[in-house]
Amino acid sequence: MSTNKNTLMGWIDDRLPVTQTYEKHMSKYYAPKNFNFWYFFGVLSMMMLVNQILSGIWLTMNFVPSAEGAFASVEFIMRDVQWGWLIRYMHSTGATFFFIAVYLHMMRALLYGSYQKPRELIWIFGMLIYLALMAEAFMGYVLPWGQMSYWGAQVIISLFSVLPYGDALTEWIRGDFLISGATLNRFFALHVIAVPLVIVMLVVVHLLALHEVGSNNPDGVDIKKLKDENGKPLDGIPFHPYYSVHDMVGIVVFLMVFCTVMFFFPEGNGFMLEYANFEPANGLKTPAHIAPVWYFGAFYAILRAVPDKLFGVMAMGAAIAVLFVLPWLDRSPVKSWRYKGWISKIYLVIFGINFVLLTWLGTQPATETLTMVAQIASVIYFGFFIAMPFYSKMEKTKPVPERVTGGH
Ligand code: HEM
Repeated sequence: MSTNKNTLMGWIDDRLPVTQTYEKHMSKYYAPKNFNFWYFFGVLSMMMLVNQILSGIWLTMNFVPSAEGAFASVEFIMRDVQWGWLIRYMHSTGATFFFIAVYLHMMRALLYGSYQKPRELIWIFGMLIYLALMAEAFMGYVLPWGQMSYWGAQVIISLFSVLPYGDALTEWIRGDFLISGATLNRFFALHVIAVPLVIVMLVVVHLLALHEVGSNNPDGVDIKKLKDENGKPLDGIPFHPYYSVHDMVGIVVFLMVFCTVMFFFPEGNGFMLEYANFEPANGLKTPAHIAPVWYFGAFYAILRAVPDKLFGVMAMGAAIAVLFVLPWLDRSPVKSWRYKGWISKIYLVIFGINFVLLTWLGTQPATETLTMVAQIASVIYFGFFIAMPFYSKMEKTKPVPERVTGGH
């Protein structure tokens, strides 16, 4: 019940807990005072999600979801719709920047052990978001109905044929005996409403789970342990106004980089908008080199590193699945890499570089040498996780301080 019965807000609060919710999640949500650079990327992911939804709604107004009309409607948006080129580049460049933000956001969790107890569910919801995001981006790429849309879909959908009842399954996914207008139609429905809805709902539960246990921080110190006489964490500051204002800096800098790329390099040298996709889809002409957009590169490289298709698909599935169980692989008594032993530190740096390498490899034609490099990189990828229960448990850690360091 509101204490202030005479205001409009009081009237609303008695019927819907608006003020209470705002206080719980903003003005009285105590976040550690030592957040650093890496803590910008949650809010930046959220901003890119909003960007994708808004630019997507406006694209939908002129896009024609049929095999006959899709390619031409994208050209129409680019040339004839007022500001259409901007809306489209906001969406296509936005996809890349969404993934950059999410990958850095995940890297932060690895650095500071944010997936460890009691934040396992935050991580699991994050992984579900990541899966949904990959499905969303894949289906979005099919929509402009260019050569890479068509053949990319062909490669990915055919992966399902290795599973039991594979032929029936791929036919069910395509809605036809080959990729056709029926496939485009259903991908449009899933891309514009079903998957975004799932992503938004997952982000809500991701944040509810976060606010239940509280944010981790670069020291991995539990700020709830030390409180003042009013029960406020000594090392915590209210999210609003401190972090809402602080996050504006990250938002402005990120938008500056985003706008530079969007206005000056929207094709990203063929990494973001692939050159083959400026040619309409043609089921009778296979492009010489079928490559995914950069953000799928790492998993595609692992898929191709295995000579057998079934085992390749299994390796790719395992590469994603292993991330889900990460909270139970890390048995270190400390969270942040600042206080972990040197094996964890070195392997984490190698893992980061190796992931970037795999990402690049996935976008390149598979020569004999590059395939060998991809095989070694895949072993390093899996080795990081398989060896983790051992080195994280055995290595000598540094003492964790009582209070957070920095952030005055
Ligand atoms: C649409 C995508 C996503 C959005 C909008 C989002 C949003 C956020 C926000 C706003 C925070 C709090 C601020 C921060 O810690 O940076 C957060 C925390 C967190 N997120 Fe995400 N997230 C997304 C995807 C992911 C993914 C893919 C993962 C991992 C698989 C993940 C794992 C985490 C973890 C572990 C935390 C807690 C971090 C800590 O307290 O140190 N998130 N997320």
